[in-house]
Amino acid sequence: MSFQVALNFEDGITRFIQCSPDETVAEASYKARINIPLDCRDGACGTCKSMCESGRYDGGDYIDEALTDDEAASGLCLPCQMTPHSDLVLRVPSSSAAAKTAAATHRATLAALTHHSATTVEFTLEVEDREALDFLPGQYVNIAVPGTDQARSYSFSSGPGQQRISFLVRTVDGGAMSGYLTDRARIGDRLDVTGPMGSFYLRDIARPALLLAGGTGLAPLLSMLERLAQHPAAHPVHLIYGVTTDQDLVHLDTLEDYAGFIPGFTFEHCVADAASTARNRGFVTGLMDASTLHDGDADVYLCGPPAMVEAVREHIAGLGIAPASFHYEKFTPAAARETARAA
Ligand code: FES
Repeated sequence: MSFQVALNFEDGITRFIQCSPDETVAEASYKARINIPLDCRDGACGTCKSMCESGRYDGGDYIDEALTDDEAASGLCLPCQMTPHSDLVLRVPSSSAAAKTAAATHRATLAALTHHSATTVEFTLEVEDREALDFLPGQYVNIAVPGTDQARSYSFSSGPGQQRISFLVRTVDGGAMSGYLTDRARIGDRLDVTGPMGSFYLRDIARPALLLAGGTGLAPLLSMLERLAQHPAAHPVHLIYGVTTDQDLVHLDTLEDYAGFIPGFTFEHCVADAASTARNRGFVTGLMDASTLHDGDADVYLCGPPAMVEAVREHIAGLGIAPASFHYEKFTPAAARETARAA
């Protein structure tokens, strides 16, 4: 028997290793040829100190100079001493390059393409060696755009346990991936996928969670919900999904399905366009008050454009509330970034 340990490096690259209950995470990393920071290997120096974001473990033997009781209580741990009691997610204080590792590239083929509307496309890939592509719900990969020398980053909208991997794309004029998906994509096309990456992923649900999505920022939250469908949480999870116009709305039926079978999951959606027929017109902040945030006893996960991230931050601060944790992923269409740089 062994457990899966996700090593999330400072540059967002994540590597997964197998670790048996009777070996330390440092030993398992060494076997996988990943050089996490180590010095004494004896629980004395603190060089390997990492943050355990998810899972249960035995912390092993160490001295106070390496790890204090307060640090251990906050989730800090010593990989040279710890042995797993479950799958783990560790934030490692090093870049992937310093640990002499890197993101892996996986071969995949286009298996499905759905044009939800003029603004949103979803595509699904079949990965050649799916077992080798582990990821945490909420993470992203870089995908090489066929026929170009460019790559684009997309968050998985599928869950880690699903065989096929899916992505949501907001189409933009002149966008490399948008052009490919709209004009040239054919089922069976080969695409290379590099990753996984990112520190925006679902942690253990230790208290109520509030998920906030802007547009195709819904994708990583769908991945989290798929995870929760497999491993239900003991706390309520509420999602607020905001878009600009009615045609940007996707996967409301999927959210309805999840609300039907994930215990404690509820959701609302809103549309900014005044001409919308949606029940809620306006922004996600219009649906957030102190009770939505459980007066601060909530973990917040937000994926959306930069303006939305800032608006939500200001709104929460305006309510005088500091959530227990606030995880966010800002995204900007690559074409818009190029335009902004040119300006
Ligand atoms: Fe010294 Fe882990 S390497 S405490």
